[in-house]
Amino acid sequence: IGRNAIKEGYVGAIIVAGGQGTRLGFPHPKGCFPITKVKKKSLFQLVTEKMLACGNRVQKQLHMAIMTSQDNDFETNKFFKDNAYFGAKEEQVQFFCQPNLPFLSSEGNLLLKSKSTIAEGPDGNGSTLSAFIKSSLFSKWNMLGIRYALFTLIDNPLADPFDEELVGRLIQGKCDCVIKAIERKSHDEKVGLIVQEEGKTKVIEYTEFPDALKLQREGDELLFKAANISLFCLSMGFIERIGSQSLPLHKSWKQADLLGPTEIWKFERFIFDMLPFAKNIDTVMYPRDICFSPLKNAFGEGSPETAQNDLIRS
Ligand code: UD1
Repeated sequence: IGRNAIKEGYVGAIIVAGGQGTRLGFPHPKGCFPITKVKKKSLFQLVTEKMLACGNRVQKQLHMAIMTSQDNDFETNKFFKDNAYFGAKEEQVQFFCQPNLPFLSSEGNLLLKSKSTIAEGPDGNGSTLSAFIKSSLFSKWNMLGIRYALFTLIDNPLADPFDEELVGRLIQGKCDCVIKAIERKSHDEKVGLIVQEEGKTKVIEYTEFPDALKLQREGDELLFKAANISLFCLSMGFIERIGSQSLPLHKSWKQADLLGPTEIWKFERFIFDMLPFAKNIDTVMYPRDICFSPLKNAFGEGSPETAQNDLIRS
């Protein structure tokens, strides 16, 4: 069912790539990171080639919308242009940009980045759907007949931007949203946790989930097992319905380099805060090794080395 929908041109991919990639320490958009071991293909090339391969399989020109931020929009656009869209047509790869929010000091004051600019940063991947609707892309996709959108983070090279199983489940279950989830590896893994609260499915981010609950077990197993990897299939109707909702802000206390090193409050919205607005959600657990290997850090867990090894193995 999912493959047929892709073949009919009913499916588009939204890729979020507006993050700053601070933990990776790569001074360019994370999507430009050369992730494959031999050919040094970037994450952007990989995701584009997956779209093209799927398009060849179903004999249809597919479309992808990439969210950038004000920090990396120019460089991302240029990267695609300089690389001839990795074999795709320009019209298949389109961009929209998320807004910034100001940083605040511990007293709640604005801060300066230079003598004439206020310090600010991207407002989190939770602004994807509203930024997508505000851009011209939402109506373009409607005109193309796209009914379902797959939502993917650029920093997971094992993700499939045209995941036919998720689309199939969305259509079959008449859902607003299907969540692709995996089992949590350990109590301290940096992943959001999928929970049920008052009958509603939601995600609580690892930064906000109480430590004591992260550790709770049921027999040998962790009580809260399901990890969010922010892979969703959404109906365009749902996107339209919630695109105008303002999702809540989450604050975090972070290091920043402004007019010298300092600490700041950063405010972000999280994409999974859309879930409580969905009428019908299906959550599907998948084996981790076929769908999740994040690129987050320079070394150790979630680093180029682990992502490369997982890509080779997959
Ligand atoms: C994210 C998930 C977390 C999940 C984990 C799995 C969210 C809010 N959190 O956490 O639940 O378990 O990935 O790897 O999704 N991004 C933007 N704009 C921004 C900020 C981020 O587009 O302003 C994009 C990044 O480019 C990246 C993705 O969102 O592709 C995730 O951002 P990151 O801050 O790395 O999320 P995590 O803390 O790892």
